[in-house]
Parts: sequence; C-alpha cells; structure tokens
Amino acid sequence: MDEASRIAPLSDIPADSTLLFTVREGFDKVEVICIELEDSVAAWRNYCQHWTDVRLDKGSGAYVRDGEIVCEKHGAYFEGNSGLCTLGPCEGAVLNDVDVAVEDGDVYLTDERYEFAHIGPSGEYDLSSGGRIDFAGN
Ligand code: FES
Repeated sequence: MDEASRIAPLSDIPADSTLLFTVREGFDKVEVICIELEDSVAAWRNYCQHWTDVRLDKGSGAYVRDGEIVCEKHGAYFEGNSGLCTLGPCEGAVLNDVDVAVEDGDVYLTDERYEFAHIGPSGEYDLSSGGRIDFAGN
C-alpha cells in the first residue's frame, strides 16, 4: 500500500469510539468514520440514514456500543461491520461504506473513489450547530 493512502495507526482508533478522517472525492471533501472490529476495520461516510444532513460524528468520535455505532441525534444504532441500522428511526437502512484495510498495524484507504486528505473533520461544517433542528426541537 502506498504512503499517500495511509490514514493512521490502528491503535489510534478508540475502543469505544471511531476515528474521523476526511477524503477527497473530486473537488469535494467527504468525512469518514472508521471503527475497529474484532479482526478488521470498517469505515462509513459520516452521515446518518435518518437525516442525511446530520453527521454521526461531531468531530470527536461517534459513540460505539457493543460494536455498533450510535447516532447522537436520535440514537439510531448501526452495525459496525455491515452499516445496517438495527434500531431507531431508520431501521433497515445501511450506511455508505468506504473501503479501508489494515497492513502492518496501519489503516489504509483502499477505496478507488476517494483520496485520503487528512485526519479530523473536513472543516466544511459548523461544528457548533449540532446539526439541524426539527419543529419538535429534536
Ligand atoms: S439523525 Fe440519526 S437517528 Fe435521527
């Protein structure tokens, strides 16, 4: 694997959270969250399937419980290995996958659609907003 696609050491992925990084898709920047699984890693585009303008990760890691990623907005659960929503308002929906792999203790982006940009948020969101608010204030 080439150095330009190296994301981070595997040990940088928190046990109870995800690692946030940014990739380029043409001229656009796209956020991705990476979760460590029992014997591999998986990565998902950083937006919820309930409200697609809401990020799963607000810049400090999405909450992970029993191998599932939890959307902080309304608490939907997504399987870390399949991206399937198992509980919540978008049950049955699936997160958009991004291909990653581990080699010699480092995580690499292996998805031909994207180029690795940097660790952390894209900088294209207002982190203070906390996503949109509906009429019920949720
Ligand atoms: S926005 Fe994620 S569960 Fe509602």
